[in-house]
Amino acid sequence: MPVKLPEKGFSKSKVIADINMAVADDQQYDTGHILGSMCTTPHTFAIKIASMYPEKNLGDPGLFPGTSRLEAETIQMLGDMLGDEHVVGNIVGGGSEANIIAMRVAKKFKENLEKPEVLAPETVHASFYKAADFMGFKIKALKLDKDFEFDLAEFDSAINKNTIGVVGIAGTTSLGLVDPIEQMGKIIESKNNDIFFHVDAAFGGFVLPFLRDLGYKLPKFDFLVPQVMSMTCDPHKMGLNLIPSGSFILREHFYKDVLGFDIPYLAGGAFKHFNVMGTRPGNVVLACWGLMRHLGREGYRAVVKECWDNTLYLRERLKELEKYIGVAREPMINVLGMTSNTNVPMSEIDKALRNKGWYLGFFRNMNPPIERIVVMPHVKSPAIDVFIEDLGKIVRELH
Ligand SMILES: Cc1ncc(COP(=O)(O)O)c(C=O)c1O
Repeated sequence: MPVKLPEKGFSKSKVIADINMAVADDQQYDTGHILGSMCTTPHTFAIKIASMYPEKNLGDPGLFPGTSRLEAETIQMLGDMLGDEHVVGNIVGGGSEANIIAMRVAKKFKENLEKPEVLAPETVHASFYKAADFMGFKIKALKLDKDFEFDLAEFDSAINKNTIGVVGIAGTTSLGLVDPIEQMGKIIESKNNDIFFHVDAAFGGFVLPFLRDLGYKLPKFDFLVPQVMSMTCDPHKMGLNLIPSGSFILREHFYKDVLGFDIPYLAGGAFKHFNVMGTRPGNVVLACWGLMRHLGREGYRAVVKECWDNTLYLRERLKELEKYIGVAREPMINVLGMTSNTNVPMSEIDKALRNKGWYLGFFRNMNPPIERIVVMPHVKSPAIDVFIEDLGKIVRELH
């Protein structure tokens, strides 16, 4: 029976009891059984800040100039983390919205092309296909080899007069790999063709800078590459902020007036913006600003170190099951892709894991199919031990 809006409202306690009954069906991060999510329980300090300022609406920034100023500062902190504090942008609904905005910017920079194309590796996130569908351009996908890398010579020759933009990924959704951003930049520069270069670091943005701090040798993936014009980096993933918070970050000197939509009638006064959303939450922006100021580099480094140590621990423990389970690539960040080492399909293993209450990300469209584990802060070593035990039982039973 469809639920109706009641004529007379129920008591608060009854309503809360009903909600609690419903959410009892939800999975909880603290069980350690959610192994395939890029989100986690937000930091308690971020939750506290967000609950203090629920009314802030950045869709009307003239009414909330203080919140708006802290949004600009949050973007500067993110830019600084990613190699250039001279940036503009917004905290947006998530990685998808940021990528859609980036593709609109790319298209705006090269208007009047009859057959616009965006060049991106096969592993590119679905949000780019959404953008292509909304805006009527084509994604030219670069094929990957057995190591999930694309050929730079092929990339070079795929750029043509219809190319409006290029996407590189710093932390792929499936395996957490980093594209050769620096080499891509050099090739783009050699074309002298105003091609917009966007890096999707939705996941890696809050991981790679801190792994670099910890002494890991990492290729340049961010604004340190001079040709990179904009980036996506999500506070609601490894940034430990509340959902919804992604970010679109554009180097300041690329901002053009044509990018802004005019919203002339607002109570706070006219302004221009380039977001998809109109009305949007300011409290998560304040939470993000507050959490970044509170944790600092040191705090995020500690979060990343723990996730990385647990990733290495998981990798070691998986070697005990090597006869059955392999890895698609050695992990570069806290994302690990398992593959089947036998003729038992990964889909069967995924099904059996789900039946035992483990939730991983199954990438059936990859070759070979990949079962992804994201070692988020809620994934601790005792849960990894139980997982290895369960996985061991499953693979032995299936063979
Ligand atoms: C590389 C990458 N980009 C973009 C996104 C989309 O982020 P969101 O789900 O916050 O829209 C994801 C999500 O997994 C991602 O891995």
